[in-house]
Amino acid sequence: MLNILSVLSCLPRFVREFIIPDMSIPDVKNDPSKVQLIRLSHVYFSHPNLKEFTKFALDFGFVEAHRDNDTIYFRGYGKDPYCYVAMESKDGKPHFGGGAFVAASREEFEKAKNIEGALVKSLNAPGGGEMVTFARPGDTFMHVVFGQEERAVETEHVPTATHENLGAFNTPFEKPRQGQFQRFHEGPALVHKLGHFGYVCRDFDSELEFYTSNFNFVHSDILFHPKFSNIDVLTFMHLDLGKEYSDHHTLFLQRAPPEVKKTYVHHSSFEVADFDTQLIGHEWLGKKGWKSVWGVGRHILGSQIFDYWMDPSGFKIEHYADGDIVNDEKEARKEVAGAISIWGPELPKDFGEDSTLVAFS
Ligand SMILES: [Fe+2]
Repeated sequence: MLNILSVLSCLPRFVREFIIPDMSIPDVKNDPSKVQLIRLSHVYFSHPNLKEFTKFALDFGFVEAHRDNDTIYFRGYGKDPYCYVAMESKDGKPHFGGGAFVAASREEFEKAKNIEGALVKSLNAPGGGEMVTFARPGDTFMHVVFGQEERAVETEHVPTATHENLGAFNTPFEKPRQGQFQRFHEGPALVHKLGHFGYVCRDFDSELEFYTSNFNFVHSDILFHPKFSNIDVLTFMHLDLGKEYSDHHTLFLQRAPPEVKKTYVHHSSFEVADFDTQLIGHEWLGKKGWKSVWGVGRHILGSQIFDYWMDPSGFKIEHYADGDIVNDEKEARKEVAGAISIWGPELPKDFGEDSTLVAFS
């Protein structure tokens, strides 16, 4: 279809958009019949070399919370008992096992159990709890959790492995930091929490329907094809919490181009404290010999300061800081797919691709 699109794109816009069937993303609204989720909790990954991944995870800024046979639970310093579950791969290949979202209440969790295909199990993991899993096309999974015991989070001081003394930021006209010095040392960028992940999706329309008709995912920003305004190619979705603010996106879905044979996770992203943490963490990962993918830079949609790395299995994983938050007063916007950063290194040509295929094909 890409070739067809290239040929058609030479025609006047009204002709080419008449020929191509409408592929717009429908508007969605949250309502109480849908399962209300309050946040993203954790992700599951299987790694061919768990030992090597563990080295990476510690350099990335995770803390090992628990180990159970061939499964390691990594946490941040947020309320979730863990935010990344790393398992030894059974077939020697890397796999993404999906993201787990927290149900707002017991009642919402019961609603999730009633969705077709729900598989319920109790969690034998830090914090306990129960989980509903939905097997989706392309060997992808969606999980809903409830009843996990949350970690006690002390919010007065942000945990850090790099900041010795951090005062206020002095600006040209305001100098609130007087007689105090900013002092840092090298180390990993400690992770707070899981922020988002997303798929390049073969079954784009039906998967979008699954997520938005059963759960409170709503659009923040939708992107359409530069040459075809009737082909929407990506949506950044947030969890609608009404007046309460939530991250600009917890899940994004991208319409897979025709050459993509199987749905894959594009990246998962974890929050860190600030710009200094990002840069010191970047240096740390580089010094340890890990592969930088793209960053440090600043995204346009979502506004995050980003830094993408490749883990030893080929998965892209992001540190982000200073992301946008939205509520139900922010309308979804639709715009043309274009530049995705306002500053930062040049976007790598293969950024959109499934890099696990290169290492493990
Ligand atoms: Fe991201």
